[in-house]
Amino acid sequence: CIDIKALRSETGCITMDPGFGNTGSCYSSITYVDGANGILRYRGYPIEEIAEKATFVETAYLILYGELPNPRQLADFRASIAEHAPLHTSLEHHFSGFPRSAPPMAILSAMLNIISCFHPEVLDVHSEGPGFDKTAALLLSKVRAIAAFSYRMATGKPLIHPNPSLSYCSNFLHMMFSEPYREYIASPVVEKALTLFLVLHADHEQNCSTSTVRVVGSSRANLFSSVSAGVCALWGPLHGGANAGVIRMLEDIKTSGRPISHYLDLAKDKSNDYKLMGFGHRVYKNFDPRSKILKKRVYEVLNELQQQDPLLEIALELEEKTLKDDYFIERNLYPNVDFYSGILLRAIGIPLNMYTVMFAIGRMPGWIANWKELHEHGQRISRPRQIYTGETTRSFVPLAQR
Ligand code: ACO
Repeated sequence: CIDIKALRSETGCITMDPGFGNTGSCYSSITYVDGANGILRYRGYPIEEIAEKATFVETAYLILYGELPNPRQLADFRASIAEHAPLHTSLEHHFSGFPRSAPPMAILSAMLNIISCFHPEVLDVHSEGPGFDKTAALLLSKVRAIAAFSYRMATGKPLIHPNPSLSYCSNFLHMMFSEPYREYIASPVVEKALTLFLVLHADHEQNCSTSTVRVVGSSRANLFSSVSAGVCALWGPLHGGANAGVIRMLEDIKTSGRPISHYLDLAKDKSNDYKLMGFGHRVYKNFDPRSKILKKRVYEVLNELQQQDPLLEIALELEEKTLKDDYFIERNLYPNVDFYSGILLRAIGIPLNMYTVMFAIGRMPGWIANWKELHEHGQRISRPRQIYTGETTRSFVPLAQR
């Protein structure tokens, strides 16, 4: 690690690293990733242990505050999340203004920004104290309600209000799937599967969306606009959008009847942009530990729910073929978190256009924690340089002479 503080712009020296593959942008004590060995830890706790033992709310607390909560802290945190679950009535009206076909990620990003209009007191929030605690709980709570409401609106169903007696995950499923006279009660299998999904997505150091949150936050923009920008970055198919892309790809393989080798050839052919969705990672060059956990759990969930998914068979075959293919071996391309997560979401009934929104709900603790840390460290405003490749000086040509 070279600290280039000494080379600041006054020396005229610029490090060129498009896509920031080798550029550290901050010091952080939230999440540790060792890409060569497939290691991921939240605040020092291995992801395998967290995935097995922690609820999403506990994980969120750990990521935000650095320690696992004691029973009292957890109860208070849960109560605060429950308290902030309902959306302001005026905020609910905004939903009716969107067309039914509106992409849920666009709604989520817009609504997260709009919340601040209804809670102006939290606009001025800093990185600690009761103001921060309230805002963090409010965001964790409201992102869930906004996501569920966008689904209800798109399907023409009445909004279902949160039930404070339910757990974080059950409450989300209730807002998604209950009907006015028929309450949806999540089975323990479904609740556990959703918990696992959210826990595995809770943070992942300086990925595209978290870096975006930090870049926006570095101008001292408020937490709401910063996470709203994070949602936009997550939306892209090379980032969070890949989870839906995987299912579309597997569906395509299933319906086209073409052999898997055809898709491998397409992905290897550099004359097009085609990529195997859910494969490859900027940091993991061995395996993505989240993908390993998901692959194992997806079997168990399908078994427990007595479901069979033909897409799982295709996914397994695809993975197996890539493991024997030189192109994928040489480039260290293995399944990432998005490869098996869609099959899990399908099994518990989440519609395809909500997959990336689910990712955003899961990633919210990481975005908030990174925004908090940025402020605690008093980070300089993010402002990369460039190497200019345009014209040198030219004289203005009057319109008549052009
Ligand atoms: N299919 C085919 N080839 C690939 C794939 C893929 N999925 N991923 C990378 N490659 C190739 C690249 O074309 C490149 O080939 P080259 O050396 O011949 O030019 C080589 O592997 C190295 O890849 P990079 O371009 O260096 O990978 P980068 O770190 O820039 O991108 C990314 C990582 C975006 C994840 C990429 O692997 C990708 O597009 N994967 C598919 C989309 C995806 O699954 N995204 C989710 C990522 S995880 C997350 O965001 C939660």
